[in-house]
Amino acid sequence: MTLSGVEERFSLVTIDKEIFINNFSEDVKTGLTSESKYLPFVYFYDHIGSQLFEQICELPEYYLTRTETKILEANADKIASQFSEKTVLVELGSGSSTKTRILIEAFLERQSLAHYTPIDVSHQMLEESSYSLLEAYPDLEINAIAARYNEGIDHLDIKTDQQNLITWLGSSIGNFDRSEVATLLRHIQKIMLPNDRFLVGIDLQKDKTIVENAYNDTQGITAEFNLNLLTHVNRELGGNFDLENFGHKAIYNEKIGRIEMYLISHIDQKVFIRELDLEVSFAANETIHTEHSFKYSLDDIDTLAEETGLYVQEQWFDTERLFSLNLFAPAVD
Ligand code: AVI
Repeated sequence: MTLSGVEERFSLVTIDKEIFINNFSEDVKTGLTSESKYLPFVYFYDHIGSQLFEQICELPEYYLTRTETKILEANADKIASQFSEKTVLVELGSGSSTKTRILIEAFLERQSLAHYTPIDVSHQMLEESSYSLLEAYPDLEINAIAARYNEGIDHLDIKTDQQNLITWLGSSIGNFDRSEVATLLRHIQKIMLPNDRFLVGIDLQKDKTIVENAYNDTQGITAEFNLNLLTHVNRELGGNFDLENFGHKAIYNEKIGRIEMYLISHIDQKVFIRELDLEVSFAANETIHTEHSFKYSLDDIDTLAEETGLYVQEQWFDTERLFSLNLFAPAVD
C-alpha cells in the first residue's frame, strides 16, 4: 500500500522558538565572561556547522559514524523483529537522519507502514531530511518535532496500543555531563511503557591516540567546525573575532575518559561583541572550552542504566570494539 504524497505524510511542530534566540546571547555572555572561558557546544550547529559535522562523519579518523553504521547494518533486522506493526521510531537529535535510514528500511521490510518522529533543534534540518526520507520511502509517515530533547520528549503522544523505539545515535550522549545524562535518561524512562525501548549509540574508552586523531583530523575539518562557533557569534551577535588569531586543539583527558575541545588564542587580543556591548580580552594561549565528548566503559553503561531505572537488554559492538549500540529497557520494580 502506498500512502498519499509527501506533504500529506509530513507534519512539523515547533516548540518555543524564542528560547533558542534569547539563550544564545546570554550563554555567550556567561561563557566568555567566566574565569575559564567556554561556549556551549549546542551552538556549533548553525547551517554551516551542521554541514561541517556531516563532513566530520565521513573522515577516515572519525571512526564513530563508520562503526555505528556497521553495527546498525548488522543488527537492524534483529532490532526491528522485536517490535510490533504500530511502532513509532522516535529519534533524539536526528540531524540528517542518515543512519536512521537503516532502521527505517528494516521496519519497512517487515511491515507495510512506518512511523518516524525526529526531534531536533534545527527546523531547517528537520524539513530537509524529512522530505528526503519521504521521497525515498512512500510508506513512511513523519511527525517531526523542532525542540530541545526535554520539550520534544514531553510533546510525544504516547499511546498504550503502540510501541516506541526511541533512538539516540552518534554518541551524542558523550557531549553531556554524566549528571545531565542521568537526568535525561530518567525523564525518558518515566515516559516509557513496559514494551518501549531506548536504543543508544555510545562511544567506548580506548587508546588515547585513536581518540585524539578522531578530533584532530589531518584535513582540518574539525578545526573548521570548532572555529565556526566564532563565525556564528560574529554573524548573530555582531562580534569581531578574527579567525586567523585562533586555533583548534583537542586533548583526551584519560582520567575522566573524555576528549576536550578548545579554541586557543594565538596572541594577546581584545574582541568586541556589539549586541552584548561586551569587550573580551584574551591572553596568548588562553583557551575557550567548546566541547567535551565522554567515552564510556561497559561498567559506566551498566551503572548509568541502573541509576536511571533501565537495564541493558542487548548490546552490540563493531569487530574492534570501538563503539557500542545499547538497547535499554525499563527495569521492572
Ligand atoms: C555530535 N557529537 C557526538 C560529536 C562528538 O564526537 O562528540 C561532535 C564532534 N565534535 C568534534 N567532532 C565531532
